[in-house]
Amino acid sequence: MKVLVLGATGYIGSAVTGRLAERGHQVVALVRPKNDETRTVPGAAEVRHGDVTDPASLAAGDVDVIVHAAAPTGDEAVELAAVDALLAGGAKVVYTSGIWVLGAGTADEDGPLNPVPLVRFRAGVERRVLGAGGVVVRPGIVYGEGKGIPALLVAKAAGHGRGRYVSAGGQEPTWPTVHIDDLADLYVAAVEKGEPGTVYHGVGEEAVPLPEIAGAAARAAGLGDAGASGVEPWPVEEAAGDFGAAFAEALALGQTVSAARTRKALDWTPSRPGLVADLAGGSY
Ligand SMILES: NC(=O)c1ccc[n+]([C@@H]2O[C@H](COP(=O)([O-])OP(=O)(O)OC[C@H]3O[C@@H](n4cnc5c(N)ncnc54)[C@H](OP(=O)(O)O)[C@@H]3O)[C@@H](O)[C@H]2O)c1
Repeated sequence: MKVLVLGATGYIGSAVTGRLAERGHQVVALVRPKNDETRTVPGAAEVRHGDVTDPASLAAGDVDVIVHAAAPTGDEAVELAAVDALLAGGAKVVYTSGIWVLGAGTADEDGPLNPVPLVRFRAGVERRVLGAGGVVVRPGIVYGEGKGIPALLVAKAAGHGRGRYVSAGGQEPTWPTVHIDDLADLYVAAVEKGEPGTVYHGVGEEAVPLPEIAGAAARAAGLGDAGASGVEPWPVEEAAGDFGAAFAEALALGQTVSAARTRKALDWTPSRPGLVADLAGGSY
């Protein structure tokens, strides 16, 4: 298939581009015009210019599938205009949302949305994509290749001299997570056989306790093996000074998210090492 990938230079998009190419798909990477004209994107057969904020630049009548994995602007009107432009060409659109639209608590693919303010714009965008027969992928916290939000925790642990995790108090928070290579496999399955109007969860581990993640991040930062007991909660109000209030609130979410329906429907079996193992002795 011919697949246009938005965000093909990013963490998720580059992994998806590589895996699609390995599977024999013809990938067209859409990169922002600010990027070098002659830039090549590994795995992409063609590079085109476009920007999410310029809907006219997103017209693509010649592709079978579009994977939207570009960073969001956070502005619902801009995001809606972008997906409308993508949908207008008639290709199947695979839109990247995220588990933060589910809010705190336990959820599966079919439950109601309760987005934290940072991703409130996504509810309307998901509805638009699903209503037009597109597919929505909600990744958990992505890890692997030493990148993503876990890399941020490693840097913060190094700066602080101790592992810590953002906490709103109360119950010990947990994160649903996914290894970047498992997530890339899921996107390939969604491209090839995702059903119109369907949500898929990119979650390998449903609920990893944040103290364990913070302990492993401290170890990755060279601070020794303090384990989960050697870490401290970082009150969300304080962390807001570093991350901004909306991002800090999202990082403090306690979530348990199932991908059981996704695994079954797409025959997807996440198999890479878990986040704590990867932090403690893997890519970080
Ligand atoms: N990482 C996670 O844990 C995670 C979890 C759940 C959901 N998500 C969502 O997944 C998506 C991709 O995340 P990521 O971690 O891969 O982000 P990333 O590494 O920051 O990559 C973002 C990509 O978007 C491109 N981009 C930025 N602004 C753009 C614009 N206006 N028009 C077109 N392209 C633009 C960037 O291109 P340049 O090279 O030009 O900057 C880059 O290729 C985001 O929507 C994110 O919220 C991420």
